[in-house]
Amino acid sequence: MSLDLPPPEGELAALSAQLHQLLLDVIERDGAIGFDRYMQMALYQPGLGYYSAGAVKLGADGDFITASELGPLYATTVAQGLAPVLEKLERPDIVELGGGSGVFCRDLLQALHKHGALPARYRMVEPNASLRHAQTETVGGLAEQYGMIIEWLDQPPTEHWNGVLFANEVADALPVKRFRFNGVEAAVSEIVVDAQAGQLVLAERPAGAALQQAVLALAEHCVAWPIGFEGEWCPSLQPWVASVLSGLRHGVALFVDYGDAQGQHYHRQRSEGTLRCFYRHRVHGDALLWPGAQDLTASVDFTALAQALDAVGVTPSLYCTQAAFLLGCGIEAAFENAYASAEQPYAVAQQARSLLTPGQMGDVFKVLAATVGGLSTDFGAHVEDNHLAAL
Ligand SMILES: C[S@@+](CC[C@H](N)C(=O)[O-])C[C@H]1O[C@@H](n2cnc3c(N)ncnc32)[C@H](O)[C@@H]1O
Repeated sequence: MSLDLPPPEGELAALSAQLHQLLLDVIERDGAIGFDRYMQMALYQPGLGYYSAGAVKLGADGDFITASELGPLYATTVAQGLAPVLEKLERPDIVELGGGSGVFCRDLLQALHKHGALPARYRMVEPNASLRHAQTETVGGLAEQYGMIIEWLDQPPTEHWNGVLFANEVADALPVKRFRFNGVEAAVSEIVVDAQAGQLVLAERPAGAALQQAVLALAEHCVAWPIGFEGEWCPSLQPWVASVLSGLRHGVALFVDYGDAQGQHYHRQRSEGTLRCFYRHRVHGDALLWPGAQDLTASVDFTALAQALDAVGVTPSLYCTQAAFLLGCGIEAAFENAYASAEQPYAVAQQARSLLTPGQMGDVFKVLAATVGGLSTDFGAHVEDNHLAAL
């Protein structure tokens, strides 16, 4: 496949070659591996994986831009939505999952400080060493300045806590299995990663029981898939949701990501799945290229995410587009303030456009939220288009 991409150089090329060899060794020892295991290693193999090794990932100099990386408007707007929730709770925590470069934490805390609604603690759950380092640098002396605690955790807290759980573009980074549907009467195929003449290749094998069962259940729910329909299924979604919510007693949980309700996510027209690779702001589909040097991601099945919340007794209260959510949080006021005081008002306008425009982040990204433990709050009540019924 000719993708016309500039190959990685220097240390990145060396790390990728090392990871490629490690994958070949694992396949030689264990046989072909599920795509989820490949994705786990490509993204998170200690010292070698995309998120575990040192290079810049996010922002203009990296491979992709997230809402928080566009500028502070996103976090400032989310702060307006969260301030009333935090004010209701005594000594609340914010737990952010996968905080990327740390800019969301920095910008959110600065905005909450202005609202007089700082949490007692900000806890960053970041399993990847290089990003944890970047986050520490970005957040700098904020904890001292605001007289609060900012700390890092390897795992979500299991002890009881109250406050806000926030995850922006984390669920899409969970490893997925890939499948091919061969008809309701036939066995489902799992698309796996194998080796041939020293190269990684995709291959197929009959799906194991869990994948077979999950895919046939999806096929029943979705409109007539054609034979050969391909998609992804995330086996770790349910356990991940259970673990991130395990300690939260009173508060709000907020998941933001690209994806759709199940009927759309697995629409028959999306017959090649949603797995994508990001490399220097280019998107392509060759997931085996330069393992560890490019991001791999799959869109989120928001119905499955909502079901995973339900399964641990947390009922989602809001499902909407990012644009609807930000409008409900009062992005107009946040924009006017930022615009009036900006040295580069044009840059603020650009942020607003990217965050809100349909066909871009505005509606490709969705928000799923839940109020936990019967907290009485009007969080989400100002969102005009709550599509919870679509899940
Ligand atoms: C696409 S980045 C998003 C970064 C940031 N939230 C943003 O929007 O800019 C994905 C992040 O999720 C983290 N991550 C991946 N798996 C995770 C897990 N199981 N728990 C917490 N964070 C995780 C990655 O290390 C990375 O920080």
